[in-house]
Amino acid sequence: MFRQLNLAYVVILAMLSGVVGVAIAAQGAQDRFTLKSPNGIVFSEFRGYDGWQAVAPSATDDGIKAILANPVMINAYRSGSGAGKPFPDGSMIAKIEWAKTPNADSPYDVTVPGALKSVSFIEKDSRRFKDTDGWGYAQFKYDAAAKTFTPTGQGAGFGKTECHTCHTGVKAADFIFTHYAPR
Ligand code: HEC
Repeated sequence: MFRQLNLAYVVILAMLSGVVGVAIAAQGAQDRFTLKSPNGIVFSEFRGYDGWQAVAPSATDDGIKAILANPVMINAYRSGSGAGKPFPDGSMIAKIEWAKTPNADSPYDVTVPGALKSVSFIEKDSRRFKDTDGWGYAQFKYDAAAKTFTPTGQGAGFGKTECHTCHTGVKAADFIFTHYAPR
């Protein structure tokens, strides 16, 4: 009886340590949503961005990108925002960038996403981001080997100096470069 009980304890302990081990391993993975851009924008403000609708894809010499927007902004695009009409507060847009790689299985030349490089975000809140025409900027660079994100920039004013200055080039489109692609 005593021996049997002991054995039961051993089995339960072994199971528990397994559970604890899994929990510790899970903690080791980075929680991207707790990261904060130096201007105070938290990654979690954009939770769900990976499921947003596409505005358009785009490609540069060294990257391939998907530009996605939340439902508020997609609806605004469809009713003329970005083409003379400003986007409303609550608009959010994400740019996901990957390295380019060929699709090895394709019978013709196809370029597809390789390693994830970064995610960039812009959100509109005209009270919160007064000195950047209502738009707040955040970027998180991805280290594919370490599987971790790091916020871009330094200082509370980084969005203005490192992002908005260039986006001001498309002031007429309410500071957004990407147009909604027909589908
Ligand atoms: C030198 C100019 C320049 C700077 C600086 C810049 N951007 Fe952009 N941004 C662009 C251009 C051009 C596009 C369209 C790019 C594309 O499709 O590849 C773009 C697109 C975007 C988009 C998709 C929405 C849109 O406007 O098309 C986001 C989100 C974005 N940028 C965030 C940022 C953030 C965050 C920063 C600062 C860390 C930043 N950008 C700095 C030029 C710039």
